Amino acid sequence: MKTLIFIGSPRKNGNTSALVGLLQEKLEGEVKLVRAFDANIRACVDCRWCEKHAGCAMKDGMQEIYAYIQDCDNVVIASSVNFCEITGPLLSVLSRLQTYYNARRFRHEKPIAKQKKGLAVIVGGGDGGGDKAAATARLALREMNAKSLLQPIIYEGTDKKPAAEDEDTVRKIAEAAAELNKAQ
Ligand SMILES: Cc1cc2nc3c(=O)[nH]c(=O)nc-3n(C[C@H](O)[C@H](O)[C@H](O)COP(=O)(O)O)c2cc1C
Repeated sequence: MKTLIFIGSPRKNGNTSALVGLLQEKLEGEVKLVRAFDANIRACVDCRWCEKHAGCAMKDGMQEIYAYIQDCDNVVIASSVNFCEITGPLLSVLSRLQTYYNARRFRHEKPIAKQKKGLAVIVGGGDGGGDKAAATARLALREMNAKSLLQPIIYEGTDKKPAAEDEDTVRKIAEAAAELNKAQ
């Protein structure tokens, strides 16, 4: 079992990272983490190279991620909420999934053969936006051929209580891990 996890929070000891840690403890097999704030991955510049070619003209850290996306069984997008959205750097990394959209739209190809399970984990302070962030994550998960999407885990209350201390959220993380550990 291989799971790819995108992390949108800059805080390595923050709420998003804590929930990803709990998930990781329960996940079987290999886990690859992509921390959007640290990754050497630029935003899509809409050069349109992928309208005619497979892959991406920009040769940076995303090349390794494209290879992993082909291979993995599960994809998780975990982010804190910024201005009612997933964080800017994560959105920037995920913009590079445009190559998959263009493969279908312009080259009439199916860019990712293997279907995956997908999960969004969203944490916010409590001022709203979790649903919008989860909807964006869902779009990106579908772009990576995550056809089987788990119920998103949204915790909006970190201004009052850390996410990893919320029993309901911790239970949902454990249940999601059990689901992701099952073969497709
Ligand atoms: C620039 C910025 C924008 C934010 N916007 C929102 C928001 O729209 N809604 C909300 O509930 N929390 C918002 N927050 C609060 C964070 O989502 C919250 O503190 C979260 O727990 C941080 O997650 P982390 O500990 O994983 O980094 C914002 C925080 C920052 C820094």
